[in-house]
Amino acid sequence: MINPKAPYIWYGGDYNPDQWPEEIWKEDMRLFKKAGINIVTLPVFSWAKLQPSEDEYRFEWLDKILDMVYENGIYVCLATSTAAQPAWMSLRYPEVLPVDSEGRKRTHGGRVNFCPNSKVYRYFSSKLARKLAERYKDHPALLIWHIGNEYGNYCYCENCAKAFREWLKERYGTIEEVNRRWNMSFWGHTVYSWEEIVPPSPLNGDHRCFQGMALDYNRFMSDSSLACYLGEYNAIREVMPDIPITTNLMGTFKPLDYFKWAKHMDVIAWDNYPSLVDPMSNIALRHDLMRGLKEGQPFMLMEQTPSQQNWQPYNSLKRPGVMRLWTYQAIAHGADTAMFFQLRRSRGACEKYHGAVIEHVGHEHTRVFRECAQLGEELQRLGDTIIDSRIHARVGILFDWENWWAIELSSGPTIELKYLKQIEKYYKALYDRNIPVDLLEPQGNYSKYDIIIAPVLYMVKPGVAQKIEEFVQRGGTFVTTFFSGLVDENDLVTLGGYPGELRRVLGIWAEEIDALFPHMRNGIVMKERIEGLDEKYSCGMLCDIIHPEGAKTLAVYEKDFYAGSPVLTVNSFGEGEAYYIASDPEEKFVHDFLKVLCDKKGIEPLLPPQEGVEVTRRIKGDRKFTFILNHNDHSVEVELGDGKFTELLTSQLVKGSVQIEPKGVAILEG
Ligand code: GLA
Ligand code: ZN
Repeated sequence: MINPKAPYIWYGGDYNPDQWPEEIWKEDMRLFKKAGINIVTLPVFSWAKLQPSEDEYRFEWLDKILDMVYENGIYVCLATSTAAQPAWMSLRYPEVLPVDSEGRKRTHGGRVNFCPNSKVYRYFSSKLARKLAERYKDHPALLIWHIGNEYGNYCYCENCAKAFREWLKERYGTIEEVNRRWNMSFWGHTVYSWEEIVPPSPLNGDHRCFQGMALDYNRFMSDSSLACYLGEYNAIREVMPDIPITTNLMGTFKPLDYFKWAKHMDVIAWDNYPSLVDPMSNIALRHDLMRGLKEGQPFMLMEQTPSQQNWQPYNSLKRPGVMRLWTYQAIAHGADTAMFFQLRRSRGACEKYHGAVIEHVGHEHTRVFRECAQLGEELQRLGDTIIDSRIHARVGILFDWENWWAIELSSGPTIELKYLKQIEKYYKALYDRNIPVDLLEPQGNYSKYDIIIAPVLYMVKPGVAQKIEEFVQRGGTFVTTFFSGLVDENDLVTLGGYPGELRRVLGIWAEEIDALFPHMRNGIVMKERIEGLDEKYSCGMLCDIIHPEGAKTLAVYEKDFYAGSPVLTVNSFGEGEAYYIASDPEEKFVHDFLKVLCDKKGIEPLLPPQEGVEVTRRIKGDRKFTFILNHNDHSVEVELGDGKFTELLTSQLVKGSVQIEPKGVAILEG
């Protein structure tokens, strides 16, 4: 449980009272209560108000609002306000302002517009966090801390260059080792002193020329923001030893290695902003990834919009019922909170057209408010039933930020290869069939899984090949794809034949990698009939030309000079099997193939798949909660098989089948 002081689903979100006169605060309280809101996050962007100058802090307004909120029965997720530094700081200490990859020094404004290696920024941000903690440590409203906001800027200033050199010294020890790791003899780039190392950016040609260096810069920048977070985290921790502390992540946000961050967060929190047209499986995937960051621990839905965003190209409204449906989707995937950005719509500046529980009209007689209030009431009724329950998945998908960076820094063999697209493709095949999936890092714990899928495991970090071997040896099924096993953690090719360290477990050697133009296709032709698979599928993008070394060929290429050579292989290894998919297959293949593998392992869908109907299950002790989400615009009848259930939102008994309205939800216990 995130904080046993409030053992129920936290419902509320970002509240900016400092943008409003005090008369409005009282009205806010009335409306919050009407909407069933039990938590507010504040003050996320109030540094300038809390610290009007270097030596002056003003907390009285915050005291007042915290007391008022608490008197109205609402708890607080207390933010440290450090994502946007006050103007006086940028002015007096220009080092606080970052330099972008084009070498331009930024001017003051916006947010997350600070250099993460600025000592001044770090000093003042942790000082503020400490002061807030000292002031509010005993405030009864306080449930959790929210540090900064959506970290993730990269900086290329002189301070960052210096800090990068220190980071490298720490990681590699000597300059010779750096030269070796980055293969700096290439194009005569050997360096002889630390000062010769400059941050990779378009200013020095192309930051992708030395991928090992660019990769390390990403790692370093992710660590630099993490250090800012940790400065505040430790300041709070010293004052409040037991309270949970978090920051808001952004799902598949590329700049930060969230698996690394997660180790320093007490609970994962994230901001979910899909667009109207995003596939449901993509949203589900991101929830599962966020749940996976801390091995399945329930997470916080820290932000979502009640209606629309302002920063997307087309900011559609969430259709009636969709806000509720997507909130339950988050809960269905492991969220224990349902929080919004924002509670009251700003009057001016760029978020005035961002949806809010309280709209500009200022009263509760709006569609959005009504939907929020209805949801608030439902969540209240759910009480503590669902929170802290877990998802039991037998299939795991490996996800790795460093692998993602490396793949997309790669020059060749194709510009088409996008890591997320590959992950999404394999995920969707399971999602569509109501098979629960966990996402985990390659260094994670494989013991819960029968099947591990590693789409494009290009980078194999130390110890990972051995983990995979042990997993397969013990009887696990491992699946990986083309362009896997090529490099080590520094993007240096593992010599002696692809797929490098995975060669043994896969029982193959990949001799060459062909890249096809988008209009070119090849085919996957089954060698023998396999129950559940068609005779032929199409494939493309990349085609590894492979030789079995103990693996059995299940399918061969249809065309080209490598027609007849293997495109799908399986290797028996110990008690288990390791599959290699040597090209990028059409979606149907992934779907059918993963079905065959799941069937073999006895991994059944939670409920029979039905178009547009999503099913997940959360489990707590011997209580099972099955979520059925109808994303369709029409109602559906869902067959439940044997058993009797209680539908938790209506308290009705259900058996045989359940009817779910368009965009409706059922949560069945039993
Ligand atoms: C992010 C931020 C919020 C707000 C929303 C708008 O998630 O954390 O402060 O700007 O975006 O969608
Ligand atoms: Zn910097």
